[in-house]
Amino acid sequence: MARAAARYVCQACGASQARWSGRCDACGDWNTLIEELPREAAPGGLGKGAKGGRRIAFVDLAGQSQDLPRQVTGLAEFDRVTGGGLVPGSALLIGGDPGIGKSTILLQVAAALASGGTACAYISGEEATDQVRLRARRLGLAEVPVVLAAATNVRDILASQEGGDAPAVVVIDSIQTMYVDALDSAPGTVSQVRASAQELIRLAKRRGACVLLVGHVTKDGMIAGPKVLEHMVDTVLYFEGDRGHQFRILRAVKNRYGPTDEIGVFEMTDGGLVEVANPSALFLGERADDISGAVVFAGLEGTRPVLVEVQALVAPSPLATPRRAVVGGDTGRLAMVLAVLEARCGLAFAGQDVFLNVAGGLRVREPAMDLAVAAALVSSLTERPMPADTVVFGEIGLGAEVRAVGQAELRLKEAAKLGFKRAVAPPARGGRKATAGLKVQEVRHLADLVALARELPRPAAATLAAG
Ligand code: TYD
Ligand code: MG
Repeated sequence: MARAAARYVCQACGASQARWSGRCDACGDWNTLIEELPREAAPGGLGKGAKGGRRIAFVDLAGQSQDLPRQVTGLAEFDRVTGGGLVPGSALLIGGDPGIGKSTILLQVAAALASGGTACAYISGEEATDQVRLRARRLGLAEVPVVLAAATNVRDILASQEGGDAPAVVVIDSIQTMYVDALDSAPGTVSQVRASAQELIRLAKRRGACVLLVGHVTKDGMIAGPKVLEHMVDTVLYFEGDRGHQFRILRAVKNRYGPTDEIGVFEMTDGGLVEVANPSALFLGERADDISGAVVFAGLEGTRPVLVEVQALVAPSPLATPRRAVVGGDTGRLAMVLAVLEARCGLAFAGQDVFLNVAGGLRVREPAMDLAVAAALVSSLTERPMPADTVVFGEIGLGAEVRAVGQAELRLKEAAKLGFKRAVAPPARGGRKATAGLKVQEVRHLADLVALARELPRPAAATLAAG
């Protein structure tokens, strides 16, 4: 069959021409022509309707289904994120920056399952088996019955998963190193990653095994190239955290067998990842008293309340366009809170650099953080520290109204548990039950918060020169 003639299509205007040139004849843009093969003719459809098809058997939605059997790892934080353990016949993708701890957590998971009697295989395409052994020894897992292999050819991997003794859990580290030998492209390209994942997922479904895939993340935060992978697997977990911090957060962003937005918190230690049962205590561990611009936010991650410190620094800027930088939060929401403070509360941030940081490396996406951000900004601008025993939460609208947020009771309870005495919060819908040991100051308008902050004492100016 003759190769269909290629066309050169302008990526700017969509015009197509038969020969390549540096400049598009139609719109005059430079370097926009890309070779594209003509699409094949659209398939003809099924022709004469339902002929030859079989009737599908429907069942009632109200019917009984069995509970999913789950493989519980015993690592409580991991089990929480997966929704109660791994589901046989499912594929899980774990993404994250290089060096964040993906290989470590999966080795620990495999070891935990193997110790419980589940047959586990760890297939590494990145490290030699000796390297994996070395890591296992470091983690104190040298004696667990996990089988290891260094392999990258998917055909070989599938061949070794046949037979009765095939493992129930297979770790593939990483999907970017795997290749299907029927394709020409190099490992790591979109087509290879997609084809390899497809084969491995099919293996999981067919054999009822659980396949755990490691996926690298590119600079812009996507699981490298293959965002497509997210659609193919049942569960997607992201490993977050700052490499400068020892905290690691495992976040479920997709889960066909459990809730999403659940997080597991770990600490990276010499002996591997250790679970953190009480993350708030950890995130608030290094707090300094009496610093203006620091406010504790009572947040919620999945079903779990997490207290974190929000820090703002407002300082005169030498630049014509002052800087606005956010770490661990949303730039757009900072801009909105600043605009509302300026337009509705009469504060001036023009000519000031504004920096915002969520301490500890957590990334907060909740709008409920708005009020804490506003409190931190006002505190920094007026140089009046918020009392250290106060937590803040609430969403801010463009009219400067403070809106109620979900699970207020849970947030307050967590704050009381950690010894906080006061909370600044929106009025509760339908009245509020008192939380023991906590005095709640309700604010309806952002101006109430500003007034509250203005009444705070200003510490005696501490001059560096004094020492
Ligand atoms: P790793 O699991 O190899 O990361 P990934 O697979 O996501 O690339 O983790 C590598 C980092 O973790 C490395 O910088 C060293 C650190 N680490 C520890 O601090 N303690 C440990 O016990 C282990 C195994 C690793
Ligand atoms: Mg690795």
